[in-house]
Amino acid sequence: MKEMIKINSIGRNSAGQTVEISGWIDTIRDHGGVFFADIRNRSGIIQAVFQFGEREGDFAALARKLRAEFVVSVKGRIALRPEDSVNPKIPTGEVELRVSEFEILNSSKPLPFFPGDRVSEETKLKYRFLDLRSRKMLRNLSAVDRIMRITRDYFSSRDFIEVLTPFLTRSTPEGARDYLVPSRVNPGSFYALPQSPQLFKQILMAGGVERYYQIVRCFRDEDLRADRQPEFTQIDMEMSFCSSEDVMETAGNLVREIFFCFSLEFPIPRIMPYDESVASYGTDKPDLRITLPPLRDVTEIFAGTEFKVFRTICGKGGRIVAFFVEKDFSRAELDGFIETAKKLGAGGLVWMKKTPGELKSPVVKFLSDEEKKGLLNLNPASGTLFITGGENVFGIMGELRRQIAEKFAMLRNGFFPVWVVDAPLFEKGKDGSLQSVHHPFTAAVGDVFADNPLKLKSHSYDLVINGEEIGGGSIRIHRAEVQKKVFEILGMTEKEYSQKFGFLLNALSYGCPPHGGFAFGMERLAAIVLGLDSIRDAIAFPKTQNAICPLTGAPGKVSDRQLKELNLKTIEP
Ligand code: AMO
Repeated sequence: MKEMIKINSIGRNSAGQTVEISGWIDTIRDHGGVFFADIRNRSGIIQAVFQFGEREGDFAALARKLRAEFVVSVKGRIALRPEDSVNPKIPTGEVELRVSEFEILNSSKPLPFFPGDRVSEETKLKYRFLDLRSRKMLRNLSAVDRIMRITRDYFSSRDFIEVLTPFLTRSTPEGARDYLVPSRVNPGSFYALPQSPQLFKQILMAGGVERYYQIVRCFRDEDLRADRQPEFTQIDMEMSFCSSEDVMETAGNLVREIFFCFSLEFPIPRIMPYDESVASYGTDKPDLRITLPPLRDVTEIFAGTEFKVFRTICGKGGRIVAFFVEKDFSRAELDGFIETAKKLGAGGLVWMKKTPGELKSPVVKFLSDEEKKGLLNLNPASGTLFITGGENVFGIMGELRRQIAEKFAMLRNGFFPVWVVDAPLFEKGKDGSLQSVHHPFTAAVGDVFADNPLKLKSHSYDLVINGEEIGGGSIRIHRAEVQKKVFEILGMTEKEYSQKFGFLLNALSYGCPPHGGFAFGMERLAAIVLGLDSIRDAIAFPKTQNAICPLTGAPGKVSDRQLKELNLKTIEP
């Protein structure tokens, strides 16, 4: 194959050389008798000059046909640009290519947009091939490629082996709906596309693989957001005979290595128990860039209050939660916060303007001196105190605190990673039944046979960077009888768990070693490293908010013949 010269390697020293390059016409300018065209390919961009002179005729006629995004092959001599037309913004800005011969390899219809233009998501994805030609997308795809190469080198140098696991499988519960695939040869039966390879990697440990990793697609039918796609990629790993610390160190060092390769500093993550995270930030994904002081549970201050609203809340066993902002807000801003709090589910929001010795608020007159003193002591500075009460108010106040910090630029620059550890093993669902906080294969801190399930913590660890969950993992249950007990606590009968998870219980019953693991969301990691607003920009062919691929039109209808072969009938929604 003919080696193509890299455009950005052409510079002053190339003057006088004859080169041949192929690429796209980026822009073209007609200066009457001479055309200036910027020619672009992955390796860079250079100005080409089509000087007609005595070559009026075929050369000029063909050059006049050139339009943006035509594909051309051009040959010519590199010359220094005149001093006053040097372009310092591009690496080839000191030179130009004086075209002697060229060929149009392909034309382009008039463009719906130029690569890199801001257009609607729908249009951008429909013409994804145009958007992919932009510098930004080429940079993003190259970065994802780099992350995958760093990952493979990292794990293989530590004795991990990459093992592929099936896509046509039974589902693993990871909290979303499954994508189902009907089986033609087993009428009425369905495969599920994996939400993660969780059970296969555990079975690989039972199989003696000891150190597994995989860069693997996962499929989840869930409501989509900027950080969620129906198919996404995990950097998935599992190891035998390990502690939580071993897994956290292995996973954490990979992130450090990836950051390092992108010239970014990755500070040593804080370690924060789940309970502290929820009590201080109202979430298990704390954004430690926020400079505001954490939430405070002030229920004790109002234990004997005469202020009716809070008395009622305390009487019902609710909590009163406050946070402080070192800033004075206008009345309109305060009204806006009340609206936001209500939208988030609060019954109301109390604000108090605070100076070192004084509280000002419409509700101050209902407070005792003791209560005022308690609130004044929360923080020595002047500013505004926000308080609300009820059930589950930590989440609401955590979100309000986050929104205020974002709106008023109270965020530090840089990366603030934190391991959120020891989540509860179970939580109560809306219907009162118990559910796993992580997945049902997570090992307990404590005794699942003897302890109150809602008091049990888990050997779990999630890595959160700047409020975004980048990955999560746990030590797993490796004994069949413990796993069965957990299924029972989750309300499954023996018949149900044997049918669904018999293969796992079987593997745990034949000498399965203790093991644990972790999975990163690779696109989320890429988005953090590249500073992207959405993981869609780290994916070549993402789906829209409605899980549609505008490029291919997927999902689409299938023929009656295909349905018949699968023994399926569709019903109108
Ligand atoms: P979990 O469900 O937490 O754990 O997923 C691991 C990580 O995958 C990323 N992620 C997503 N990224 C983009 N779009 C999505 N829809 C999406 N869903 C999840 C997140 C998340 O932290 N089997 C366990 C891991 C383990 O225990 O080893 C699991 O899948 O960054």
